[in-house]
Amino acid sequence: MTNLAVVGGGVIGLSTAWRAARTGRKVTLYDPEPARGGASWLAGGMLAPVTEAWPGEEDVLRLGEESLRRWPDFARDLRKEGFDPGLAEHGTLVVAFDSADAGHLEILARHLGEMGRTAERLTGREAKRLEPGLGSVRSGLHVPGDLAVDNRKLLQALYAACVHHHVRFRQERVEELPDAEAVVLAAGAWTGQLHPRLAGAVRPLKGEILRLKPRHGCLPPPAHTVRAVVEGRPIYLVPRGDSELVLGATQYEAGFDRAVTARGVRELLEGAERVFPAITEYELTETAAGLRAGSRDALPYLGVLDDGVFAATGHHRNGLLMAPVTADAVVAWLEGEAPPAGTEAASPARLHLKEHE
Ligand code: GLY
Repeated sequence: MTNLAVVGGGVIGLSTAWRAARTGRKVTLYDPEPARGGASWLAGGMLAPVTEAWPGEEDVLRLGEESLRRWPDFARDLRKEGFDPGLAEHGTLVVAFDSADAGHLEILARHLGEMGRTAERLTGREAKRLEPGLGSVRSGLHVPGDLAVDNRKLLQALYAACVHHHVRFRQERVEELPDAEAVVLAAGAWTGQLHPRLAGAVRPLKGEILRLKPRHGCLPPPAHTVRAVVEGRPIYLVPRGDSELVLGATQYEAGFDRAVTARGVRELLEGAERVFPAITEYELTETAAGLRAGSRDALPYLGVLDDGVFAATGHHRNGLLMAPVTADAVVAWLEGEAPPAGTEAASPARLHLKEHE
């Protein structure tokens, strides 16, 4: 299959188009606002499958770990072509405020150890030594191997790499599947509207996210990604290279609504103040809401839908993390090769099985 249409210009669509174009295929990408409009533009950018996984999501974790393993090569290939994806290796610090949180950190530490990953349990004092701006934390878990990526730099890099490899961009919304030998559906939360097998299987999962900057005289942002659960709500603070801090994210179902609510902003700021009190003096530079592509089981849908039509969607909280493994899977399908480990569990065939259970 030498000619490929990709529907969707977020991190999944752009990564797929770039990787496929490098194999010499003629690629056309359809998106009204490529590299700009969707969930990827608003992502936190953590490449941290374990601290991002939720209990019971073993297949998601396996696929995430496989993609994390592929991230350094993916970034190196982009850099070799002259495009900086903004990969940061500052690691994650997860902090606990009470005994329940501390118990959760024990489980996380064990899990990471079983996977051969380094994770160091810290007392509250040790955590504060690592991140002096932390509030009154009881204990912490330092995960040095976690990566993070500057989502906007990455999107720009992927867009430029696509242009470099002669990907054609059509800035239009797709109503009917494009005419091509192979079509990849990677339109995030909107993908459910593109194919009957995905109708109702992909749903929007709203998330509010903020960006802040230290004003003159403020404590600088944390050096690590810092995660915590405050009042039962998970939050993360991810530093960007230019001293900006990304604070995310709410998660709830609200259809395709993308309004930023006062409650969402309040919850995030209240949580962040507990984790990193100096944030109250920061300038709030951006408030935004995006729509993650939720699937039925938090695993994406990766694989054949129809003859020549492939799904690469439903990445839930993990689009940036899973971009390399998804793009490599698409290229493997097109080449008739075995796809990466962990992708079988994500086959859309499971939708069919569920319907007949
Ligand atoms: N991966 C972060 C989020 O979805 O909020």
